[in-house]
Amino acid sequence: MRKLFVLILLCACFSRVVAQDIPLTKGWKLAIGDSAQWASPTFNDQHWAAVNVAQSWEQEGHPDYNGFGWYRIHIVIPSSLKEKAFLKDSVRINLGSVDDNDEVYLNGKLIGRFGGKTGDIVKGAFYGPRTYTIAANNPAILWDKENVLAVRIYDTGGDGGIYGTNFSIGMADVMDHVKINTEADFDYGERNSLSKSIKLITTSHYNYSGKLGFKVTDPETNSVLYEKTNDAAFSSAKPFTYTFEIARLEKKSYTITYTFTDDKSGKVLTQTETTPYLLTPYPSAKPKINGADVFGARPGSPFLYLIPATGHKPLVYKAEGLPEGLKLDAATGIISGAVAQKGTYPVTLTVSNKLGSKTKDFSIVIGDKIGLTPALGWNSWNAWGLSVNDQKVRTSAKAMVDRLSAHGWAYINIDDGWEADQRQPDGKITANSKFPDMKGLSDYIHSLGLRMGIYSSPGPRTCGGFLGSWQHEDQDAQTYADWGVDYLKYDWCAYSEIVPKPDLDGLKKPYQVMRASLDKINRDIMYSLCQYGWGNVWEWGAEVGGNSWRTTGDIQDTWRSMSSIGFNQNKAAAFSQPGHFNDPDMLVVGKVGWGPSLHNTQLTFDEQYTHISLWSLLSSPLLIGCDMGHLDRFTLNLLTNDEVLAIDQDALGKGASQYIKNDNYQIWVKELKDGGKAIGLFNLSDKYQTISLDKTDPALNGFNKFRDVWQQKYIITAGKTFSAKVAPHGVMLIKVSK
Ligand code: GLA
Repeated sequence: MRKLFVLILLCACFSRVVAQDIPLTKGWKLAIGDSAQWASPTFNDQHWAAVNVAQSWEQEGHPDYNGFGWYRIHIVIPSSLKEKAFLKDSVRINLGSVDDNDEVYLNGKLIGRFGGKTGDIVKGAFYGPRTYTIAANNPAILWDKENVLAVRIYDTGGDGGIYGTNFSIGMADVMDHVKINTEADFDYGERNSLSKSIKLITTSHYNYSGKLGFKVTDPETNSVLYEKTNDAAFSSAKPFTYTFEIARLEKKSYTITYTFTDDKSGKVLTQTETTPYLLTPYPSAKPKINGADVFGARPGSPFLYLIPATGHKPLVYKAEGLPEGLKLDAATGIISGAVAQKGTYPVTLTVSNKLGSKTKDFSIVIGDKIGLTPALGWNSWNAWGLSVNDQKVRTSAKAMVDRLSAHGWAYINIDDGWEADQRQPDGKITANSKFPDMKGLSDYIHSLGLRMGIYSSPGPRTCGGFLGSWQHEDQDAQTYADWGVDYLKYDWCAYSEIVPKPDLDGLKKPYQVMRASLDKINRDIMYSLCQYGWGNVWEWGAEVGGNSWRTTGDIQDTWRSMSSIGFNQNKAAAFSQPGHFNDPDMLVVGKVGWGPSLHNTQLTFDEQYTHISLWSLLSSPLLIGCDMGHLDRFTLNLLTNDEVLAIDQDALGKGASQYIKNDNYQIWVKELKDGGKAIGLFNLSDKYQTISLDKTDPALNGFNKFRDVWQQKYIITAGKTFSAKVAPHGVMLIKVSK
């Protein structure tokens, strides 16, 4: 043990030449479970297992484990850290990424916590990078002595523990208190220009004064387009704002680098961001009908469908061949009613305005299946986490109908955090005070032609620590029907307390129970299974009656998370079919946050094109996870490309398969109903790549029309190969046809 401390100290001294921090990447121990004693510095953890914090505890010998676990490390904190630092007032501890909630103890004293609805570690569900800053004179720190850092974790589902690369302890540096805030939206001007304001802000008492460097580079050529340096001074009372405009940009992303250098300390802070570019053409003023070609409902169930259409308003709607029991509101485009007779009803939809009219063939299929194409909608989780409330849901519904439903977006889904703490005396579930009137809320959503979703767990508690449906399944299904719910996400969570080590039947059981309850009610409720892909759920999700099933743990708004989920879906692709879809989790575009305060997604703009293209190729439900009250121009453009959405909504319901995989790029191919194919050429590398396919390659052979789906135009290709220059982490999405 002692040898280890010496080693840690030696490493620390050595690495101080480069950075003053002491790395905390090695020397951790882990115990699964929970005990207050484990915070104590005197607790003997010698028998605990050594753990590699580069990876989650699932990867470290605890597969599928959710619940409590503790990490401990013994570390000497030398006072030389303080002596050599420019600012000596606080200590910073980097704990990698925490999944999901944590409490951090230094020598038995609580020095920080994250997650928690009401101060209870179990009710949080907030994964992400964690850094704690404490005062250097905090008596918890034992300078020049052995310290015990103990981290209590509560994992609600999916990956768990502390993991990643950023583990260290050091003095909070001058720049640890500075933020280059790039959250403002870009403004789009003439001459293909972009402008924006960024802010330098601080929470420190220190007065910053120095230079702000601003540089724009083209990642394709590495050439510098703009370079400027400005004086910059700011304090906690007075931030510094820098506004810039860059012009004559091509249709691609550029990299902006901001570098602030503080004169007094000589310290430097650098941040980069990429610039947005819009690919979806501006919608025409002429009428056009969008959305899927088919919609399924069960006989006798309330029917609701808003015809998605673009074009100058007012639009007038017509539907010929509607089955008995349905009526159309010609002014709003909402079809409602109920159909008693099973059957496939071909309908001709027409939308007109003063510039003309457009028709589309549409099938209404009344039978046992619903969700014939993947759900398109919004879910509160990736934006608001447990802070979701009635107002946020109404704002989302209004924004959806004003800006997105014309392209087929239809579901407004409330995730965890709506439930009361206790059931009524008769066992009925109720909403908490953030949702004063669930029926009123669903009436409002339905009045817009949209559908409402809700969330629960088969366990006694949800992942956020609220009430689940355990032993109340029939009652809850009936309550949802009474409220007018159209979609249920059913999340395993605390069901592990009921069945800790389920076999395959055990994994299916709770989903079959709720299926049976949903089958008893007179309402079509889309059934979305959420259990993180356990037991290869894609192989039996349809059998237990799921309209979709999560194939993975929770997504985060990083390239690492999105790409490792998205590009690992090949195993599940063959199981995708109308009414039953793989769900690689919700979208991380726009402003996300998993709680009350939001930030721009950390995905670059090219990564966002990849995200939407790949999810559409996979026939995934597309559930927007951002603040819909704040849809910036890029996000709106990204989510309103009818040709991209048509790939997702293709009635054949196939999942794309991984056709070519190598270190730098991948090609995914999806067969479409019309006999064509959608093909995604993805650049997984950090550099521009030219991705080519021979025209005689089986993927292309026999097809002579190549369409750039994002730009909605045909590509003229001479020669024997099809080639595309693709940006780092970006995509070229094409559709080939005859
Ligand atoms: C789990 C799910 C998430 C979300 C949260 C809510 O982590 O995977 O999608 O529903 O629970 O607590």
